[in-house]
Amino acid sequence: MEGKVVVVNLVLVVLVFGAGSGFEFPQQQVLIPREFSRHRLFELVIDQDPADPNTNLMAIKQDTLGNVSFERVRILGTKLVSVEAYAFSNSYQTLIHLDLTNNNIQNFPFASLPRYVSLQTFIIEGNAVASLHHIISTSLQVLSASFNPLSTLEVSTLTGSPALTEVYLGHADLNTLDPGHFTHLANLSTLHLDGNTITVLEYQAIVTPSNTISYLNLNSNELTFVRHDAISGLSSDATLSLRNNALTTLEEVSWLHVFQQLYPDGVIDLSGNPLVCGCDLAWIMLDSQDRYRPLITDTTRCGVNGPILVFLDPAFFEQQCQP
Ligand SMILES: *[C@@H]1O[C@H](CO)[C@@H](O)[C@H](O)[C@H]1NC(C)=O
Ligand SMILES: *[C@@H]1O[C@H](CO)[C@@H](O)[C@H](O)[C@H]1NC(C)=O
Repeated sequence: MEGKVVVVNLVLVVLVFGAGSGFEFPQQQVLIPREFSRHRLFELVIDQDPADPNTNLMAIKQDTLGNVSFERVRILGTKLVSVEAYAFSNSYQTLIHLDLTNNNIQNFPFASLPRYVSLQTFIIEGNAVASLHHIISTSLQVLSASFNPLSTLEVSTLTGSPALTEVYLGHADLNTLDPGHFTHLANLSTLHLDGNTITVLEYQAIVTPSNTISYLNLNSNELTFVRHDAISGLSSDATLSLRNNALTTLEEVSWLHVFQQLYPDGVIDLSGNPLVCGCDLAWIMLDSQDRYRPLITDTTRCGVNGPILVFLDPAFFEQQCQP
């Protein structure tokens, strides 16, 4: 039940831990001391305990935050359901970092994002957002919408934000990935799609214009099959993490192109997959220059808890798998 205002060199950081103490939600405004109301403020932080029944920030309306502009806004753990269209309209020019992690947001004015001309980081992780619509921003670099019940992603969702470098869409109930989501993202380096229920990566599911992806996280999906050219755009020192999926084989026709992208300094983690480790691995184990086997982590085992894949004896494949 305490609110705290911290002033650092005409930069105001407002920390609100509960309701009360001059910060009255939702009917009234956040009461920012009058002497600061003309300033461009650095950061607003409202950090509440989601389990606290007394917190009452449900909506942010046009006048909730008063006539001030912020560079950073972090509103965490509140009961916030709805952010209205002009909620942060005083910050169109100034807002760089908007973090709305772990609230109950169902409605966010995604259509107003282009007006935030400085926005670089937008985090709406851990809410109840069912659709991202079109994220249109020429400045946005980091987007996190993990832990929302998105279910599907429209192909046009991200194409209007060409500056994105990091995209987090983990635990978002995604079960398919149509081609073309990432084909406009020339600087994409980190992509998280972990904890979804994707079963198959089809042709061109994850493709970027050049080899910029350094970390691709597909852990804990239900992948049984990755089609040839489903993944394109990995850098040669990338980490491709496919832990805890349902992959059984690494057929050359599907996987050669992935391994070629990761060679020579990349890493592919296939631990927690029920790999059968049969002759489908012969192209890896018998490669004359041994280019591909060293890319696989030594946590990757056959049959989940069987022998470590990279330590399998190539002689076995030579004897059993010759054409
Ligand atoms: C908001 O602040 C600006 C700058 O101080 C001022 O010009 C404007 O009139 C204010 N608007 C309202 C509605 O108070
Ligand atoms: C990608 O990054 C480069 C180098 O930082 C930058 O010059 C370029 O504008 C970026 N591309 C986009 C579409 O933002």
